[in-house]
Amino acid sequence: MCGIIGYIGKENAVPIILDGLKRLEYRGYDSAGIAIMNEKGFEVAKQKGRLTALEELIKQRPIKGYIGIGHTRWATHGEPSDINSHPHVGSKNKIAIVHNGIIENYKQIKERLEQKGIKFVSQTDSEVIAQLAEYYYNGDIVETVIKTANALEGSYALGIMCLDEPNKLIAIKKDNPLIIGVAEHGNFIASDVPAILKHTNRVYYLNDKEIAVLTKSGVEFYNMDREPIYKEPEIITWSVDSAEKGGYEHFMLKEIMEQPRAIRDTIQSVLANGDNGKVIESLDVTRFSKFVITGCGSAYNAGVVAKYVFEKLCRVPVEVELASEFRYKDPIIDNNTLVILISQSGETADTIAAMREAKRRGAVTLSIVNVMGSTIAKETDYTLYTMAGPEIAVATTKAFSAQLVMLYLLAVTFARKLGKLSDEEERKLFSEIASLPDKVSEMLKNVDTIQKYATTCVGYKSIFFIGRNIDYAIALEGSLKLKEISYIHSEAYAGGELKHGTISLIEDNTLVVAISCCERLYEKIYSNVEQVISRGAKVLFIGNCIKALPGEKLEIVNIPVINELFSPSLSVIILQLFSYYVAANKGLDIDKPRNLAKSVTVE
Ligand code: G6P
Repeated sequence: MCGIIGYIGKENAVPIILDGLKRLEYRGYDSAGIAIMNEKGFEVAKQKGRLTALEELIKQRPIKGYIGIGHTRWATHGEPSDINSHPHVGSKNKIAIVHNGIIENYKQIKERLEQKGIKFVSQTDSEVIAQLAEYYYNGDIVETVIKTANALEGSYALGIMCLDEPNKLIAIKKDNPLIIGVAEHGNFIASDVPAILKHTNRVYYLNDKEIAVLTKSGVEFYNMDREPIYKEPEIITWSVDSAEKGGYEHFMLKEIMEQPRAIRDTIQSVLANGDNGKVIESLDVTRFSKFVITGCGSAYNAGVVAKYVFEKLCRVPVEVELASEFRYKDPIIDNNTLVILISQSGETADTIAAMREAKRRGAVTLSIVNVMGSTIAKETDYTLYTMAGPEIAVATTKAFSAQLVMLYLLAVTFARKLGKLSDEEERKLFSEIASLPDKVSEMLKNVDTIQKYATTCVGYKSIFFIGRNIDYAIALEGSLKLKEISYIHSEAYAGGELKHGTISLIEDNTLVVAISCCERLYEKIYSNVEQVISRGAKVLFIGNCIKALPGEKLEIVNIPVINELFSPSLSVIILQLFSYYVAANKGLDIDKPRNLAKSVTVE
């Protein structure tokens, strides 16, 4: 969840690292820090709070050097404070580290080192890495890193500098992402691609327990036996602009607006003979007796939508599980189960654990991932890449939309392969899916109604989302989106559940957001709308089959007509815009909501 970056090269590392940290801030923003190695030794600046506080500190006390490491923190062990911020330097002032992950046996290591008289200054698990490395250091930093890593239990991505070997920057990882970038002027380590995209698109993906030794002029890789290993660099196709705000006030709004492109590219990657299409075609779907879909947060919600689509088209039972629950529930899966893992980052700890559990039990695994080279992408049997491009805002929008269309395309292809659809029916459904980018584009040209309406909604304490069938599935995402960024309490309910308790929550001036894209269920959801209005609620009614007329308590947003199975891709646009504008009107830090991080690499 934390973000790390390191640089060694011909240029001053400080501005490069600060810029990288800005792009990594979505991974955590409790504190930020930087350590530079120069002729004076280590110069460390670290500060609780947002990166701007660190920038201010460095303005007052400038530091400079050609090798350095930086960190942006999402606190796990030890409260957010200056002292608990990274980088951590051992008490001999010889080794400095930045760490992303959790060291599970840090207490034992700490006790052992304390008995030897080593004094710790922070409450973090990470400090033990710097202290232990110093304790082991024998004049050879690579050997020291191997010995240190062998003593650590848990997960880590590490950037390490050693004062006695000032021309090296060391990186190693286990169960947390780390990439190595190579540029003309120097070399980088980073938690992800956008942090260094400005400098290079040539990256190496580190595998678990591989060590990278970076110098000004190159990079070498070793295994834990210190044998050299050969790795091929990958060329990243994401453009530099895609990781910039491009004139928008927030990344979230920019990413909402990019959805027609993200959806179109994802469709193309399947239908226009792209790699994703080939992967889907290569899968023998007839062998599966059920599908299990798992993920966390919005990725899970995409799975809930997909269950309706798969079951309707394929007539194969689908279970949707929260990845954090799946791993501990003794799941009933075997080699006739296809487990579909959905993850934007490909690094979510719970989803990784679910994937490994599924593999252990012999299931076939297929992932839908946005980040190339990520752990989930690498470890599943089949990998499909969503073409959303880098997503920076913590609240997902374009990656979610890309996941939805990928799932539709998968479901339709599977249904044809299973003999549930003729070629002709498949073509028809594909062409409906292919109409989505233009429809979303049209909707995004006209955001005034929802923008205006959102200004009237900032005062609500609670907002309820209702829908039936697939509209209920997307209501879950609408509710999550709203609460993550606006801090307004919200919940989603199936319309039919209202009478079983939920309706007691409705009082004067409660807001209910109702969704209606399943025409066959229109009367049912409309009667829910009437029920809540008669109990004092106001309703925002979003749909493509609404017959009611707007009124004092009823706002209506009409959206384009499409097959109900694919309608979540349209209703979600209004739900995203609604959340965005409510949060914007509250003046909140939309791209970095409090306590959240985009990529949750801890359990
Ligand atoms: C975090 C984010 C959510 C995201 C979830 C899963 O909780 O705040 O927006 O949906 O992680 O992330 P993934 O990268 O696995 O899709």
